[in-house]
Amino acid sequence: MTGLPAVASARDLFDSGIDINDFKNEGAADDEKYWKQIAHKYYNVSKDYINLENGYYGIQPKPVLQAFQKNILLANREGTRFARKVYPDMSTAIKKELAAFLTVAPEEIIITRNATEALNIAIQGYPFKEGDEVLINQLDYFSMIEAFRLLEKRGKIKVNAFDMPLLPANEDEIVEMYSKMITDRTKVILLTHVSNINGLIVPVKKIASLAKEKGIDTITDSAHALGQVPFSLPALGSDFVGMNLHKWIGNPIGAGVLYVKKERVKEMNVLFGDIYTPEDNISKLAHFGTTPFAVTMTIPASLSFHKLLDIEKVSKRLHYLKSIWINELKELDKVEIVTPADLSCAIASFRIRDKKTADVADVLFKQHNILTVSRALGNDGCIRVTPGIYSSAEDIRKFISAVKAI
Ligand SMILES: Cc1ncc(COP(=O)(O)O)c(C=O)c1O
Repeated sequence: MTGLPAVASARDLFDSGIDINDFKNEGAADDEKYWKQIAHKYYNVSKDYINLENGYYGIQPKPVLQAFQKNILLANREGTRFARKVYPDMSTAIKKELAAFLTVAPEEIIITRNATEALNIAIQGYPFKEGDEVLINQLDYFSMIEAFRLLEKRGKIKVNAFDMPLLPANEDEIVEMYSKMITDRTKVILLTHVSNINGLIVPVKKIASLAKEKGIDTITDSAHALGQVPFSLPALGSDFVGMNLHKWIGNPIGAGVLYVKKERVKEMNVLFGDIYTPEDNISKLAHFGTTPFAVTMTIPASLSFHKLLDIEKVSKRLHYLKSIWINELKELDKVEIVTPADLSCAIASFRIRDKKTADVADVLFKQHNILTVSRALGNDGCIRVTPGIYSSAEDIRKFISAVKAI
């Protein structure tokens, strides 16, 4: 279009200092040289503390940050001409690209500000009927638990909660737990794909399939799964999935996605007032008003960079970093690991017997410059440890020494 501004695209991303050859190596999980080079060249990470709290949000790779800065400048400089004449088509193209990344149809996703928004739209929009019950457990994310509890408070559903074992021996034990808790009235199961508390990865596909056989829906919270562990969204078999792009995809903060299987859109109630969009059009769920243009505009860049990193390599590397500390600290009598090493990826949690978790996290930070976070879990809580793709084995070894010294 003449007279309209050029925009940063995935193509620009590759002009901004990326050498594809940097990513061609096998990138084995324990290849420190490879990962160090990626970290140094492509991430600007603060060096004055060790960040093992990457579960909150991920640091953007430098080329993505550059694309973001460019997008902010453009949206600001061009003003409403951009918003009215360029952004509508651009956001449609971005949605298409995101859908392709997720291997679903563009008509099955909406871009939200975060996973909480995406999942609230699914939870509060689900067509519950009187008497319906929902199944949750203590490892689910508190905001989704609260969304269901709110519906319960309003008299719309009954919530049944159970305690998931912290150290299930295998996936079948997890499936069995859900299966045992299903009642004749269970209508929806909340599945937290990767727990934010102890990193447990639940076998969504198996549980969704079992649920479907009984006419039960699953609403899946994949906030921590997208970009951390490989999975195929359509193959999960869950008709409602909420995710974000600012934890493990490397996008600027403020982007999430809701997936709703095409044939289920029609029955969903809208959370944000909308009466004119056709019932079977997913856009009816996205009546948001003005959204942060630059964050959405950067999605193609973050997806491109994440593809270069390669999800298989990423998840193996994160799993390896986690395994280093679990394998060593599990041998200490004073340490209790509350994460099954084989059923988790980057995130894992522990506690020290007879010590308050908040105090332990405090000592790690104040005395050793290592950031972790204390999380509520039963009576004792736990300390969550989350390396990022830019963390090194040396960071993990420093963490191990610090815990030993406590
Ligand atoms: C399991 C899980 N679900 C949902 C969320 C919420 O994500 P967001 O901050 O994108 O709303 C988080 C955030 O930590 C999470 O860990």
